[in-house]
Amino acid sequence: MNFSEKMLECSARIENAILKWTPDENERPSELHRAMRYSLCAGGKRIRPALLIAAGEVFPSGADLLPAGVALECLHTYTLIHDDLPCMDNSDLRRGRPSCHKQFSEDLALLAGDALLTHAFELLSRAYAGTPEIALSLVRDLADAAGSRRLIGGQVEDTIGERGEITPERLDFIHKNKTAALLEAALTMGFRLGAQGGNAQILEKAKEIGYCTGIAFQIVDDILDQTSDAETMGKPVQADKANRKLTYPGLHGLENSRKRADELTARALTLCEEIGGNNGFLTELVRTLATRKN
Ligand code: IPE
Ligand code: IPE
Ligand code: MG
Ligand code: MG
Ligand code: MG
Repeated sequence: MNFSEKMLECSARIENAILKWTPDENERPSELHRAMRYSLCAGGKRIRPALLIAAGEVFPSGADLLPAGVALECLHTYTLIHDDLPCMDNSDLRRGRPSCHKQFSEDLALLAGDALLTHAFELLSRAYAGTPEIALSLVRDLADAAGSRRLIGGQVEDTIGERGEITPERLDFIHKNKTAALLEAALTMGFRLGAQGGNAQILEKAKEIGYCTGIAFQIVDDILDQTSDAETMGKPVQADKANRKLTYPGLHGLENSRKRADELTARALTLCEEIGGNNGFLTELVRTLATRKN
């Protein structure tokens, strides 16, 4: 299988797993479950579960990677629903559709986000109950990434940054936490589920791959906000400037931003090589993310 065939196959498995591992729309309260599925099934790129699966396949162990991938996507989708709310980025379009609060209502969008966040942890604890030590590590990985010191901390400084001081250090803090934290979790969780899950050295490298890929990912997101169009992106463009956001191209210019994203990708690729194993899919995925168009 070549890379695009493998990616298609991986995406199809993730879509099926999302339907399998999240509440049905008919379950009460169906309005809430419809809102959760509306945002979840709107067709995101599924980068985080794909990275988790790619990482888990480097040293295959036979463990089911999909529930952890779905948990990650639930958590990510919650952050997008809340990120789009009028009190945050006030964005009406997401994944090519009206944002959750536009399609439903602000109160329901808030609650659908809350429910997806909680569901992520419920799913990890249930699906991996047969291997309690792994389940606990996965819960901790995700909680560390999503908590006040990381993802939420990054979102807070991003939001306050709209009216705060502009420094490269502050921008790095925002990118490292609002975005890279979850990609680090994807890599770490994937490797944990693999055959050498307890190997501290490999986990350190996995985390750094996630860090480099995550910072590059957010730099590219900031570049695309300036240079792409809403149809390609499935979300509004030129929004960062309108919201007076601190962004990489805003601070360092487009050319330096591309250069930095390429350097970080090169570092991630070196680490993939160092880890070895069955690293073909992971390597190609990391490479592709740097040149993505949406
Ligand atoms: C958007 O993430 C938020 C960022 C961290 C830039 P994605 O670009 O992965 O969004 P989806 O999941 O494909 O919609
Ligand atoms: C969002 O960053 C990061 C999280 C949701 C945690 P952005 O605000 O740049 O994401 P987009 O551009 O709206 O997707
Ligand atoms: Mg934001
Ligand atoms: Mg936003
Ligand atoms: Mg953005």
